[in-house]
Amino acid sequence: MGTVPDIRTFHPRRGRMSDAQRAAMDTLLPRYGVPEGPLDVATLFGGRPVVLEIGFGLGHATVELARADPSTGIVAVDVHTPGVARLLRELEEHGLDNVRVVHGDAVELLRERVAESSLAAIRLFFPDPWPKARHHKRRIVRPDLVRLMASRLQPGGVLHCATDWAPYADVMLEVLTAEPALRNAYAGWAPRLERPMTKFERSGIEQGHAVADLVFVRRSG
Ligand SMILES: C[S@@+](CC[C@H](N)C(=O)[O-])C[C@H]1O[C@@H](n2cnc3c(N)ncnc32)[C@H](O)[C@@H]1O
Repeated sequence: MGTVPDIRTFHPRRGRMSDAQRAAMDTLLPRYGVPEGPLDVATLFGGRPVVLEIGFGLGHATVELARADPSTGIVAVDVHTPGVARLLRELEEHGLDNVRVVHGDAVELLRERVAESSLAAIRLFFPDPWPKARHHKRRIVRPDLVRLMASRLQPGGVLHCATDWAPYADVMLEVLTAEPALRNAYAGWAPRLERPMTKFERSGIEQGHAVADLVFVRRSG
């Protein structure tokens, strides 16, 4: 694999944490986080298949999908501290044991801590669209990062993306189709699959945006 350039897909935000957020981070992250070092996908959830959710935001989809399918483990990663604190509290409230939370950069996680061919699926719901041309390089769906994601999926593993930003949807289709390790599970766009409505999707729809889903499968070999 070529070198992945160090252009972050997010702007680091430094805000003061509220006391409640700090308490959640201090007390719940040790419980719902993952040990440092390589992610032990085989044992993390006692052998259950592992899905990586990149950029979970406030964690609405994470919680709903985890509740709907306890036979799957979800590693949910985001850089945004308030969202991480919120998800941690939700996991405790619902007593969920099939979610682990990573507070950090998904690209670093994939590159440095996730083994090749280990994940059952990757969910990328409403990644930041970076609409300005000078920011397009920050989009997470770009050839080098799609190659990285594909390499971490098991053969037959699924990369499920959704966006409400039509120009990004076109780019996603083009970039994903061009990745030789992936094949489109549908002819073009996927139907709207089982996916809870999130705040970002709702606000996109309210602004009249069409939502596109894309489902690609890692080829064998
Ligand atoms: C537009 S929001 C969508 C949130 C959520 N998936 C939803 O549908 O409501 C994109 C999220 O991706 C996160 N993000 C962007 N780049 C990331 C990265 N490299 N690693 C982890 N999270 C990232 C942002 O912090 C933000 O929470």
